[in-house]
Amino acid sequence: MVLLLIYFHFVIQVLSEAPPVMPQHVLFDNWQLTWTPATEETTVNYTVMYRSFDSTHWIDIPYCKQIYSTYCNVTSMETKAEHGCVMLGVRAERLGLKSDPAIACSKQGNLCSPEVGLSVRPGSLTLHLSRKSGITEEGYFVKHRIYFGEEGEPLEASEEDAASSVSIDNLTEGKRYCASVQNTYFNIPVGLGSCPKCETIPQSRPPSKKTEITVTVVLLFVIIILVIVYILLYQRKRIKGWMQTSNKIPVPVEFPDLSHVPFIGKTPNEEICDIPRMDFRGL
Ligand SMILES: *[C@@H]1O[C@H](CO)[C@@H](O)[C@H](O)[C@H]1NC(C)=O
Repeated sequence: MVLLLIYFHFVIQVLSEAPPVMPQHVLFDNWQLTWTPATEETTVNYTVMYRSFDSTHWIDIPYCKQIYSTYCNVTSMETKAEHGCVMLGVRAERLGLKSDPAIACSKQGNLCSPEVGLSVRPGSLTLHLSRKSGITEEGYFVKHRIYFGEEGEPLEASEEDAASSVSIDNLTEGKRYCASVQNTYFNIPVGLGSCPKCETIPQSRPPSKKTEITVTVVLLFVIIILVIVYILLYQRKRIKGWMQTSNKIPVPVEFPDLSHVPFIGKTPNEEICDIPRMDFRGL
């Protein structure tokens, strides 16, 4: 009992000393940032941070610091961000212990985030990227980094940044894939990536009439073979019985002598029939 109490005390101590889990689903939409708490702990607060694209340092946004709500209005960042290019993240904090920042994704395309559309066909997925971003209009050499993967697995960055829409081939039909896109400027990611979008790869084509017929024929064939095997294996005795009866030499049928019965032995017809028989013998 004492050991158990010590154990629980230890567990609680470890739990309270671990940094909180980072918030989930940090969404950027029209300069509003929203997120979902990872746990229902009420002691956890949140801080929104930003990072310009030429820096690796996160800076706290003063009025979104250590707040207990799960949203923050970041309109003031619009003036700070060059062409709307800013990275935003949210970290969770409990008793001075901080989580890693959860990076926000952009729900809709904006000045710095690409607008992404997905289309699928059998074995392939195409990402349609709009080129209406603020930095491209300014003449910056902007490319797109594609993050791609199966649903539920971490998305991997493409090896090469794409200049325009891209197709990804050799995908498994029936599986669901997700993609997100971020602008890059000389290989450096700038601004928020688009929130992942997912699509299921369709099957090549519904089974045609031809294959249906083939399947039916094969099935029939299999059934026939099974019936034959069944008969050979289990009905052998019966077959043998049939074979024996059919092999018996037929016993000559003895017709009863009907000559004594009037009108059967010598009918008038018999005499008429005798005439052609006589002719035949004469030949
Ligand atoms: C966000 O803040 C800006 C200015 O501070 C304000 O104009 C805007 O209405 C606010 N948005 C929301 C949804 O509260």
